[in-house]
Amino acid sequence: MLDWEQIFATRSSRMRASEIRELLKLLDQPDIISFAGGIPDPALFPDVAFKEAYSDIFSSAQVGAALQYSVSEGYKPLREWLARDVAKIGIDCTPDNVFITSGSQQALDYLGKLFLSPNDTALVTWPTYLGALSAFNAYEPNYDQLSLNGNRTPEAYRDTAAKTGGAVKFAYLSADFSNPTGETVDLAGREKLLALADELDIAILEDAAYQHLRYDGEAIPPIMALDIARRGGIENTRTIYSGSFSKTLAPGLRVGFVVAAMPVIRKLVLMKQAADLHSSTINQIAIEHVASRGFDAQVAKIRSVYSKRRDAMLAALDKYMPKNATWTRPEGGMFVWVTLPEGMDGAELLAKSIATEKVAFVPGRAFYADGSNANTLRMSFSCADEAMIDEGIKRLGRLISNAIRAAA
Ligand SMILES: Cc1ncc(COP(=O)(O)O)c(C=O)c1O
Repeated sequence: MLDWEQIFATRSSRMRASEIRELLKLLDQPDIISFAGGIPDPALFPDVAFKEAYSDIFSSAQVGAALQYSVSEGYKPLREWLARDVAKIGIDCTPDNVFITSGSQQALDYLGKLFLSPNDTALVTWPTYLGALSAFNAYEPNYDQLSLNGNRTPEAYRDTAAKTGGAVKFAYLSADFSNPTGETVDLAGREKLLALADELDIAILEDAAYQHLRYDGEAIPPIMALDIARRGGIENTRTIYSGSFSKTLAPGLRVGFVVAAMPVIRKLVLMKQAADLHSSTINQIAIEHVASRGFDAQVAKIRSVYSKRRDAMLAALDKYMPKNATWTRPEGGMFVWVTLPEGMDGAELLAKSIATEKVAFVPGRAFYADGSNANTLRMSFSCADEAMIDEGIKRLGRLISNAIRAAA
């Protein structure tokens, strides 16, 4: 029999099943209270608006074009809508600076492919979005911990990269309501990152998947907007901004986007021609149809629902968690990040939690490039109602309190 492993490329050795994807299977069991998924609540999808959009497309002369191949850059009216939308948050660009991807996940894959030669270094936050690690892993990089408080010198990053035989290429982060912690990088942190990137002469990949999901507090300009303001225009920036309609409209259509200077866009277009030619034509048209008629109302609706769920989760954590656990208090997004006492293991806890309490979450270790910090948990509040959140956290609090007592 053919020994497949022998003929797979070396990069395939770093492709592993994601703990999260495995966990998503649990959502099918009706009696599990799941804080695991981190996906939007399907009850909030604008399904009526999409029905109208597809119906309009199919009953118009546009249908032929909608079902046809299209340009790799993406559907022009959608790129125009996006250029106007990001301008509202200080990202002044032309539609040519906007490139449509099949979900922002594809942007991460392309950017990994574009920047990372084997052994190059990607700076990532500790923890970081697991899907970004999976996307970059295929290009065989090393990871170094991105510090946003300025306590590491550029030389320290360069030395670490040189030891492994490569160069630092980019810093990747979600500045708003990150997956997995829900935390936001403050203005000073964003400025420090821009200064560090200048000194290292690297790109910044700003993943803005949760940008629109702010529930309270003051919005902070995206790193891309700060970069444009400093440099006097998008063509002089080093930031590459990626966004998505997955968390606001619906992920099933797979429409995301990148905003960047033209040299980056031109390369991405070539990559897309080689990979999948273009993102689904009809889905891009439907997204533009729905977004241009009711994006703000849809965002207001989901913010109102998710903010109540966030409040319910924080209130339940205050009520039921033992004193020696800590957690983040996010101003938006879908996640709260829980840290348990040292020595506890989120994966072991999950196995017990599913067996005895029927509550699911994601063990935090998978979000660390070095597999450390097993005593952390990612809890998503997006798909459970307030009563379920209270009940689920009550059960989890009981389990964790017992586990801490048993370990003492
Ligand atoms: C931080 C972050 N980036 C990117 C993605 C990818 O989303 P999509 O490909 O649906 O746009 C996700 C999905 O969960 C995410 O959490």
